[in-house]
Amino acid sequence: MISTGQKIATQLIDRSRLVDTDLENIKFGRVFSDHMFVMDFLDGEWKEPVIKPFADMRISPAALVLHYSQTIFEGLKAYRTEDGAVNLFRPQANIARMNRSAERMCMPTIPEDLFLDALVQLVKLDMGWIPKGPDAALYIRPFMFASDEYIGVRPSDGYRFIIFTCPVRAYYAEPVRVKVETHYSRAFPGGTGEAKCGGNYAGGLYPAKKGAEEGFHQLIWTDGLSHKFIEESGTMNVFFNIDGNLITPALDGSILRGVTRDSIIRIANDQGIKVEERQVSVEEIHLAARNGRLRSAFGAGTAATIAQIASITFGDEEFSLPSVDERLLTNSIGETLDGIRRGRVADPYGWLVPVV
Ligand code: COI
Repeated sequence: MISTGQKIATQLIDRSRLVDTDLENIKFGRVFSDHMFVMDFLDGEWKEPVIKPFADMRISPAALVLHYSQTIFEGLKAYRTEDGAVNLFRPQANIARMNRSAERMCMPTIPEDLFLDALVQLVKLDMGWIPKGPDAALYIRPFMFASDEYIGVRPSDGYRFIIFTCPVRAYYAEPVRVKVETHYSRAFPGGTGEAKCGGNYAGGLYPAKKGAEEGFHQLIWTDGLSHKFIEESGTMNVFFNIDGNLITPALDGSILRGVTRDSIIRIANDQGIKVEERQVSVEEIHLAARNGRLRSAFGAGTAATIAQIASITFGDEEFSLPSVDERLLTNSIGETLDGIRRGRVADPYGWLVPVV
């Protein structure tokens, strides 16, 4: 049985790999910190957790996850402030979302206190891995997978929950070129669109690859039934600035409940910017782009943070959007959000959870 609120048993690495790592030159998602948190679910309960050196692990070729994708994940970040403190950004929101995904995918939920303890203890141990610089952060990847050795189709009895961390910088090096996808679908009503499950991302690879062959960094997904309504963009939620108002698709069960999305909406509201969360038709955005009312658009996600959209393509028509410097509204929201994360701006929302 697990116990919460106490120090998690920790096996330290013999020699840190940090000394061999150039944190100034890292590629997103390729460099991993020294330790990981591991906890198994067996016989109907979570077993004692452990923090141990990040390493490969043994897994049966018959593990259910490898066949039927019963796996979920999260992404959150820890930031270092200018005075040397380290904070997690809204970890409770990610914990809640992971547990929603778990329910949808017939997986056990994780006790929230233990999850938070694990994040704090792991990040504290490896905080030396947080790079310095404007886009730098420690990306934290919690995930869970079905571990039963069995190839019948049913929910697994056993699961493994792991958290590891990676030093990261910007996910996109430049504003992105996107295309509105009206043939392939990411999600359908009643499907798993809202869950952060591996299969959603696997299913998006082929359309994204076709888009990349045409020179697009990302797709803007539309609804799976009519392809008339915008849902999200690649691995991010999407926002449009039309005439100075911020418009984003409402959460409808097919869209990821983005933590960055929610943070942007709250900051925008507090800055007196009108935010509309509603159904957004492709036609409306296309028309606004045509008549010059679409002032800017951006994707929002933990990895991508705020990713400016350089151009949007509808069928054969590509519209370039203003350069970053002209995006006053997005810049003001982005500066506040980044300022809160890095301790330059007071956090009136209670979003930061101190690690040290
Ligand atoms: C995140 O933004 O944290 C994500 O999960 C996107 C990821 C697929 C890179």
